[in-house]
Amino acid sequence: PHTPAQAAGLAQFPVARPRRLRRTASLRRMVAGTRLHPAELVLPMFVKEGIAEPQPVGSMPGVVQHTRDSLRKAAHEAAEAGVGGLILFGVPEHKDARGSGADDPEGIVQVALRELAADLGDALVLMSDTCLDEYTDHGHCGLLTEDGEVDNDATLERYASAAVAQAAAGSQVIAPSGMMDGQVAAIRAGLDAAGFEQTPILAYSAKYASAFYGPFRDAAECAPQFGDRSAYQQDPAGPVGEALREVRLDLAEGADAVMVKPALAYLDILRQVRDLVEVPVAAYQVSGEYAMVEAAAANGWIDRDRVIMESLVAIRRAGADLILTYWATEVARRLS
Ligand code: PBG
Repeated sequence: PHTPAQAAGLAQFPVARPRRLRRTASLRRMVAGTRLHPAELVLPMFVKEGIAEPQPVGSMPGVVQHTRDSLRKAAHEAAEAGVGGLILFGVPEHKDARGSGADDPEGIVQVALRELAADLGDALVLMSDTCLDEYTDHGHCGLLTEDGEVDNDATLERYASAAVAQAAAGSQVIAPSGMMDGQVAAIRAGLDAAGFEQTPILAYSAKYASAFYGPFRDAAECAPQFGDRSAYQQDPAGPVGEALREVRLDLAEGADAVMVKPALAYLDILRQVRDLVEVPVAAYQVSGEYAMVEAAAANGWIDRDRVIMESLVAIRRAGADLILTYWATEVARRLS
């Protein structure tokens, strides 16, 4: 007369009482399987050309478009808090069809990277997002054909050139986010030819065409002027295998680490990517994830600090080694 649980040798109530290990804070701390550490947090930052004061981003309370000076100060604060890295996005004064600011040595991101590199040394990892959308007047992530489609192959050369400009300015990790086919290979070849064989690539491999990027487009002033990004970013309803294929292709092209983006709505993808690869896996807790929590908290509807920590623990538990989050500095301080 055995139940399946008894046959499998599993104790049952009242012998089994899972609550025993939850009873005190010290017991819970001892058996916690998921821990956060400041060094695995990466802070996304925006630097805008030609402004005298930092500009608040309306849809992201607490996030600003930095001046070069305020960027340096905030980067120091992040480093002091123990944050592992920062990833820089540039907002240029002038945009054009080919995104000239992206690889101009005097472009805002390159100028800011040089200043940060000189200032910060090895206090944290200086990373740069490599894409064209912040620099193009049409707001798409690549060059356009005459019909207004994004021209995959013509864009690759622009990405390689932007990556080289960023590396030359002091970026220690190149993070291509444009979802063009072949972008990692093109950037790897460009970096190697320019003598940056040692600069790693963190590929935004599984990046979905997500409405959660809405607030970012205010922060980076890069909303597409027509259409959307669904012809190059992944369909949220698409086959899971598509994400895994993107990851495998990026690794075959030379990616050193891969990313899943957004985070909280894609934890299933994150777990499957984690189980597939040996390299570090990053997850990007994107602008909309940030904005939802801040807005609900401002209304008194949720406990802001607990929701932030719970969301980060969930992302970590799903398999992220690194987490890009706009709360990086605040959370790093709370952790230490
Ligand atoms: C593209 C890029 C985007 C984000 C990071 N890199 C926007 C997009 O793909 O539309 C979004 C980040 C966020 O929402 O926080 N350069």
